[in-house]
Amino acid sequence: MDTRTTAVEKGSRFLNEENSVATVNGRMGAEVSPRMKLVMSGVVKHLHALTKEIEPTHEEWQQAIDFLTAVGHKCTDWRQEFILLSDILGVSMLVEIINSRRPSGATENTVLGPFYLPEAPRYRNGTNICLDGKGEPLIVKGKVTDLDGNPIPGALVDVWQTNNDGFYDVQQKDVQPDWNLRGVFAAEWDGSYWYRSTKPRFYPIPDDGPVGQLLGRLGRHPNRAAHIHFIVSAPGYDPVITHIFPDDCPYLGEDTVFGVRETLISKFQEVRSSQDAKGLGLGDLEERFPYFFVNWNFVLTPSVT
Ligand code: BEZ
Ligand code: FE
Repeated sequence: MDTRTTAVEKGSRFLNEENSVATVNGRMGAEVSPRMKLVMSGVVKHLHALTKEIEPTHEEWQQAIDFLTAVGHKCTDWRQEFILLSDILGVSMLVEIINSRRPSGATENTVLGPFYLPEAPRYRNGTNICLDGKGEPLIVKGKVTDLDGNPIPGALVDVWQTNNDGFYDVQQKDVQPDWNLRGVFAAEWDGSYWYRSTKPRFYPIPDDGPVGQLLGRLGRHPNRAAHIHFIVSAPGYDPVITHIFPDDCPYLGEDTVFGVRETLISKFQEVRSSQDAKGLGLGDLEERFPYFFVNWNFVLTPSVT
């Protein structure tokens, strides 16, 4: 429970530079909930501090209003430009980190992103989810366990990623097969799961709107580091929304939404021959070479209810 309280200073009837925060916050009614009071008095405090720090001209203030208006106008049922703004300012990732503090050793969270679709097809382990045949073949294989290494049979590994051109199926409705590079796998009795896919590549976030323009003005590129998305869940455990990032991606240290965490980076090994495959314990899971392989375990923590 949040035990913080907010002592709102008594303001004045008339606002000036010195009393502005207290004057605005002092207008809040006595019946306002403590959480609302904490949130809104903080918003006012920091907004006023920022305004006093940068001293915007009227033109600059109008530009800020115009920018936020454009962000709103860009939003549709399938495009959320405000979330994109929060993403590129690092706020989405901060909220994610704050809300998923877990013991060391547990798989860490990162951003969900806008391209998750619930109810992807359920497949048997080993299925190839790459339906357009593009890109470099990949095997993803590992276990779902608890913090003590005990397997969690039946845990669901829900996965989605872009194709080799850097687009999700939902962004290319008439180009990619439906459900391309999405699927749900259930962990076996020993916690193991595996599937076939394609090695992920970096790709730009949607940058044809005001957020893309802002990135340009800030001298920033729009690229996300290459990644595969996962939601891993099991009854009695806290579901984890996470990614795996290949360690050879040039954008690892400059992901435009700040979603990379050190514990989520992995080597994607190139398997060139059956000898390589044997050495990695892959036997003859795949007959054609070369392909990439990533070994990745998910560690879940009990849900707190
Ligand atoms: C993504 O990973 O798909 C994503 C995340 C945040 C913003 C845009 C895209
Ligand atoms: Fe993504």
